Amino acid sequence: MITLKNIEKVYRTSTIETLALTNINLHIQEGEFVSIMGPSGCGKSTLLNLMGLLDEPSTGQVKIGQQAVTEYRDKELARLRNQKIGFIFQSFHLINDLSVLDNVEIPLLYRKGDATGASRRQLAQEALAKVGLSNRMAHFPSQLSGGQKQRVAIARAIVGRPAIILADEPTGNLDSAMGNEIMAILQQLNAEGSTIVMVTHDETMAKKTHRLVRLFDGTMVGDSVLQTI
Ligand SMILES: Nc1ncnc2c1ncn2[C@@H]1O[C@H](COP(=O)(O)OP(=O)(O)OP(=O)(O)O)[C@@H](O)[C@H]1O
Ligand SMILES: [Mg+2]
Repeated sequence: MITLKNIEKVYRTSTIETLALTNINLHIQEGEFVSIMGPSGCGKSTLLNLMGLLDEPSTGQVKIGQQAVTEYRDKELARLRNQKIGFIFQSFHLINDLSVLDNVEIPLLYRKGDATGASRRQLAQEALAKVGLSNRMAHFPSQLSGGQKQRVAIARAIVGRPAIILADEPTGNLDSAMGNEIMAILQQLNAEGSTIVMVTHDETMAKKTHRLVRLFDGTMVGDSVLQTI
């Protein structure tokens, strides 16, 4: 489903070069739920951004399905990202002056052709029901708790029914009860067929996934199967 081959990522500013990732080789199968762990600054978000086509590697190849990402033109890439990938960001990235329901509809606005206003609304309502937020649709982000914001971010990531969900510390800012709830939602989505890659600092959350990849200083230092799919 996702293949990373000999990936290196260097961030260059005018004064310094940071080698954020090096020698990354990773294949994620369809239906897998993979967690990524490692200390702050080791490259976890960078790795997820590459998988989510939000950034390009300095060297190496990213494949979604059979096709290398570099073979797509910009427009096709944007479509691939919009249709195949749902991204849950480390900081929720909700738009504060839009209601919960409007926030969740955003990915559908970028889809040409399908989805009329009414069907977009319906899909957004379904996604919010899935994360248990049917009763908060008219609220604005500032009126929500951290856990609720995170659930809105999940609803927005899944509204277009993407095959791949990438989650950057989705339980990071939450207490353990709310964290468990978010984790249960992700497990349910995985059971329904989504391939999920999740960055986490929490061993207990990682242990609930199929596979744990460990990063240290930009390299992979572990890759273990925890449960078979
Ligand atoms: N846009 C950027 N420009 C320059 N350096 C960057 C940029 N983004 C990240 N880095 C550097 O790349 C390295 C990896 O960053 P990354 O955000 O991937 O870490 P992380 O593992 O997600 O950390 P955290 O657990 O704190 O979120 C860090 O040293 C960081 O300073
Ligand atoms: Mg990060």
